[in-house]
Amino acid sequence: MTGTAEPSKVGHEEGSQLSFAAGGHVATVEVDLMRAHAFAALATLLISSLFGTIVAIKLVQPEFLAGAAWSTWGSLRASHTQGILFGWLGNAFLAFLYFAIPRLAGRPVMSRRLGWWLFTLWNSAMLLPGWVLLAANLPQPWLAIKPLEWTEFPLALNAVTELCLLLSAVQFITPVARKPNDDGFYVSSWYVIGGLVFTLLAFPMGSVLPQVVPGAIGAAFSGLWIHDAVGLYVTPLALAIAYYVLPVRIGRPIYSHFLSMIGFWLLFLAYPLNGTHHYVYTSIPMDTQRAAIAASMIMGFDVILVVLNLLISLRGYGALVWRDVPLRFVWTGIVLYLVVSLQGSLQASMALQRHVHFTDWVIGHSHLAMLGFASFVALGAVAHVWDRTATCRCHAGLMNLAYWLILGGLLVMVVDLTAAGLVQGGLWNSGASWMESVRASNSYWWLRTASALPIMLGFASFLAGMLTQEQSQSAASRDQPPSRGPLPQPGNG
Ligand code: HEM
Repeated sequence: MTGTAEPSKVGHEEGSQLSFAAGGHVATVEVDLMRAHAFAALATLLISSLFGTIVAIKLVQPEFLAGAAWSTWGSLRASHTQGILFGWLGNAFLAFLYFAIPRLAGRPVMSRRLGWWLFTLWNSAMLLPGWVLLAANLPQPWLAIKPLEWTEFPLALNAVTELCLLLSAVQFITPVARKPNDDGFYVSSWYVIGGLVFTLLAFPMGSVLPQVVPGAIGAAFSGLWIHDAVGLYVTPLALAIAYYVLPVRIGRPIYSHFLSMIGFWLLFLAYPLNGTHHYVYTSIPMDTQRAAIAASMIMGFDVILVVLNLLISLRGYGALVWRDVPLRFVWTGIVLYLVVSLQGSLQASMALQRHVHFTDWVIGHSHLAMLGFASFVALGAVAHVWDRTATCRCHAGLMNLAYWLILGGLLVMVVDLTAAGLVQGGLWNSGASWMESVRASNSYWWLRTASALPIMLGFASFLAGMLTQEQSQSAASRDQPPSRGPLPQPGNG
């Protein structure tokens, strides 16, 4: 195992820019852009979760907000999921990249002006108009809601998203590619490159192709994108964070660079085929379904390897994980990554699909993945970045409260939806009527709605923690470079 100490920051604030030295090179962190994306992330997380809460209420009180196009269940559900993907996670990842890329690459991101263009396009030309158009529900093909999961925003806005993905690749991959470390790229850089490039290519496939080739073939492409969005955009960027934050906070390199590379390549080899497992028992050719099931099993092994590598890196640091809030957020996300992935590998099998397909089990699984794994890691990233930036107020107590509220709410939601799914699947397989299964679901749907309260309070508490300074902690002491910690560098295991 080898590792290099994280760059000692000679740092000073120059207006909005924070400079530090990395191996003799001075890299500039665009603090303003980082803060803007982080605040946009938390604001859109709260708004998107409110959409989710309204959608949950409508399942138990269908007449709630009934009668207007903007407040139909389908429109609000799409606003919830697109807001979570692009508003919350997209902005949180961008905030982290502004902090981490200068440190990983030893040089600043491509351009500050490009950064403000990206921020404006991402939020004001894609996300906000997306929500407005979902609410307006217009008939024009270019402006209409698309019935495609994870890309419900209209086609006209998909062009903006693709442009944003291209700008992100230019902004963050260029500095990394221009100056690899002497030992090559650190695993976080690999994940950033892989995630941004793959998504740039996969997004048009999932957004445009199903419109051109409808029917089962279009559905197959849509299925591929559903999982590419989660597995090859959200997962690589979340893993880039985990591989960065864990070693820096404990002050020791990851256990094995070799294993981290195996994990990276296996993800990008096996994951692209996974998506068709959404269409088991459909008219899509059986061989394609079987390939997706096999790929899903392989992914289970890949995740075990990745998570073991990360958790072994933490051996001996249990007490620190308990004390250190950003580290605990990331650690929890990693543990939930293992749980949700093993669940996913099992539920891709035809035997389990027979019982859970189309039930709330799947919605529980989705929340475990996106809220449990991805959001805990992303919240940990924002907490880490805030903790290490002098100009950011950071209240560990409020963030700690947020951790417990979100974790509690998540566990209630997931256990509740999993149980609801088993009840629904059992009733459907027994030949019971649809309405019988709806009646049986009612109490579970109430509980899921109630679970929104701690989750929303948790998000609000986290945001308050980003705006409030803890008295005992001075900005100067927080801004110490993680000198005890290594710069995440390739180690040889
Ligand atoms: C306030 C808490 C939340 C509530 C009450 C809530 C509720 C809901 C509801 C009712 C649905 C539609 C379920 C259906 O189709 O039957 C949904 C879908 C979804 N939500 Fe949430 N949600 C919340 C927060 C979140 C968060 C924070 C995330 C991710 C970070 C998230 C990710 C998702 C995903 C991925 C889906 C799509 C599920 C699928 O199609 O498999 N939700 N949510």
